[in-house]
Amino acid sequence: MSSNLSTVLKSSIFRKQLSALTGLALVGFVIAHLAGNLFIFMGPEAFNEYAHSLQEMGHGKLVWIMRSGLFVAFLIHIIVTLSLAWENTQARATRYEVTQSHGNRKFATKAMKYTGGVMLIFIIFHLIDFTLAEKTGAGSMVDGVDLGLYGLVFNDFHNPIRVIGYIIAVSAVGLHLTHAIQSMCQTLGLNHEKYTPVIKKVSLTAGIVVAVMFSAIPLYIAFLA
Ligand code: HEM
Repeated sequence: MSSNLSTVLKSSIFRKQLSALTGLALVGFVIAHLAGNLFIFMGPEAFNEYAHSLQEMGHGKLVWIMRSGLFVAFLIHIIVTLSLAWENTQARATRYEVTQSHGNRKFATKAMKYTGGVMLIFIIFHLIDFTLAEKTGAGSMVDGVDLGLYGLVFNDFHNPIRVIGYIIAVSAVGLHLTHAIQSMCQTLGLNHEKYTPVIKKVSLTAGIVVAVMFSAIPLYIAFLA
């Protein structure tokens, strides 16, 4: 690696920007995924058709391009944020540099590493639950009818442990976003005494909306569908 490239990669500003850009891609995915999942409220046909058309985009190639991009963004985001967090801890421990006083930081900011950890564990279980599961057959049967992916979601959310687990996980996603969106905007240069308070409110609202709307899905399936 040339020394110039290595200097850039080591620069914490570059890594913060990388974390913000990959975070932006992940937020985009979460919002698009939430919007798509709302088809669940419209019943099996609408949801399965939506999922099917997503899989078929670009003759099935586009979905793999998107998955690869998502995976790379996810990996970079985790590696870069962990390296920044590690440096921050070291700096605090050696008292060379204190960027923010612990007492003044908000709950969501302090909880970033925990909400991030919960999300990481959730994604693994979530992929096993849906993406990697058989989408037809025993797991998709509802009242003797094979309801495909909708049936799988339906049966999964008739397990109270899973419903509680999902609500905890999507609340962690929402809490993560309340801090992440405003922090991302700041890193990407959207910092202005007039706009920053608005961005903070948007960030808080987006986090709450994401948590509430994602939670509504398992609750709807468990009690109303
Ligand atoms: C109640 C909440 C949620 C429901 C009902 C849900 C539902 C689903 C379903 C049905 C799939 C499989 C799609 C398919 O294979 O065609 C899926 C995939 C996925 N979900 Fe979720 N999801 C939820 C929340 C989340 C959250 C909060 C995240 C991220 C933080 C997330 C990330 C993913 C990822 C990364 C995939 C794999 C995408 C792919 O196959 O390309 N999901 N979800």
